Amino acid sequence: MLDIALPKGRLGDRVYGMLKMAGYECPSIEQPDRRLIFENPETGVRYFWVKPSDVTIYVEHGAADLGIAGKDILLENRPELFELLDLKTGICRMAVAGPGDFRDSRERTLRVATKFPHIAGSFYAEKSRDVELIKLNGSIELAPILGLSDVIVDIVETGKTLAENGLTVLETVCPISARLVANPASFRFKTEEIDTLARKLEEQIS
Ligand code: PRP
Repeated sequence: MLDIALPKGRLGDRVYGMLKMAGYECPSIEQPDRRLIFENPETGVRYFWVKPSDVTIYVEHGAADLGIAGKDILLENRPELFELLDLKTGICRMAVAGPGDFRDSRERTLRVATKFPHIAGSFYAEKSRDVELIKLNGSIELAPILGLSDVIVDIVETGKTLAENGLTVLETVCPISARLVANPASFRFKTEEIDTLARKLEEQIS
């Protein structure tokens, strides 16, 4: 049996669709109820719905063999797990955004609000830019509007949230997409099953 942590929400639904097409169907997960765990002994999979930011925690601790996690979470939390496949879905980018007329000045520390302090910290460290990182947990776009920060580092998908709050992308930090990740010990003990799943899933991508 392969234990797979799926991120609850649109991305998880989409990836389950890919797994189903790849031969890892589990009819009970398609029922409209509130259960969180589903298994299909015939295809040898057990799925769990978990909060997207918790997927790597389940996989890192071995509570799941495999999981689907955004590259943003992997870059931010640097969990000890294997990244097996870029699923080419959940595509967005990490970007610096702020008011369109914002002009940076090296004479002062740049105030950056973000849910991703490691990603933002590394990005500015590479440029040797002094920053004050302000860690928020959501609604990041409010920070420059209310003067809490100069800019934000956040996920941009359609750009709608930025546009509707009068902000614009100033710089791209990196592209983001969903990844198939594996617990290293699971990978050692279930190499064949995991390799087969990754290969079949890869066929669905193209
Ligand atoms: C994310 C991100 C942006 C928004 C970007 O927020 O932090 O706010 O999505 O998407 P868009 O470019 O398509 O508008 P999320 O929905 O996770 O909510 P949050 O504010 O609670 O982080």
